[in-house]
Amino acid sequence: MRNLNENTITQAVINRNEGTSNERLKEIMISLVQHLHSFAREVELTEEEWEVGIKFLTDVGQICTDKRQEFILLSDTLGLSTLVIAQNHRKPEGCTEATVFGPFYVSNAPELALGTNMSVGISGTPWFVSGTVKSIDGKIIPNAKVEVWQSDDDGFYDVQKEGLDHLEGRAIFQTNEKGEYHFETILPEAYPIPHDGPVGKMLQALNRHPWRPAHLHFMITAPNYERLVTHIFKEGSEYLDSDAVFGVRSSLVAQWVQHEGGQDPYGHQHDAPFSTLEFNFVLNPTAKAKA
Ligand code: BEZ
Ligand code: FE
Repeated sequence: MRNLNENTITQAVINRNEGTSNERLKEIMISLVQHLHSFAREVELTEEEWEVGIKFLTDVGQICTDKRQEFILLSDTLGLSTLVIAQNHRKPEGCTEATVFGPFYVSNAPELALGTNMSVGISGTPWFVSGTVKSIDGKIIPNAKVEVWQSDDDGFYDVQKEGLDHLEGRAIFQTNEKGEYHFETILPEAYPIPHDGPVGKMLQALNRHPWRPAHLHFMITAPNYERLVTHIFKEGSEYLDSDAVFGVRSSLVAQWVQHEGGQDPYGHQHDAPFSTLEFNFVLNPTAKAKA
């Protein structure tokens, strides 16, 4: 096909992709090409501007390593992650809502017994977290896998720390026969997402801040239930209404109760302040399990 012009190029590309036998890929590519071309037409994209765009995407790719996930940051800061999560988790009222995964999950966290302190090596205010994992129909869920990860009180995750050769501030717990989980850690603080790269430059150009309100990450999995990836946010934390990655949901904001000292839930005495959080998770059975 020759002599394509601004009116015929879109259909020509769509026709060229016709040969695939992967129907879902075809559907996605038709829509992607249509929307991408519509965008260029709508803003009358100049060659100089598209050069800047390509340079930006190149920079996003080039800064990525196994520990630096700039494309996740881009998806998150553009709200695309929140959109994709929302349309894939239309759950019944009462189920715990999902939110962004973020770039700091690792799959090989240590498996710890309930009650263990998962913050050994990190300084901060002691925090005792507990709750239950249940099904939307009220059934307790024993042996659910509860993966937890968090930043330290300076707002850094272990994987961001140069030269650190072990994992910190993350663990895998299993609910007991009553569907309960509980552990000790330290209070995480609000922190900025990594903003020393191209996504940071984009935020700056848009006059946006990179901060996230204080939160604790959870991923909960159990056979016959939808996987839940979520966070629990701190009531009163700064940035709840301007989270850089659009992840806050009111149902995920909870009281992190501060105690001036005294006995913690494990019966140990503290002279200094500590905090507690109780949060009960509600999982949605998979469509297959409901059938
Ligand atoms: C996080 O909470 O770990 C996170 C989420 C999205 C982007 C950056 C960090
Ligand atoms: Fe986080």
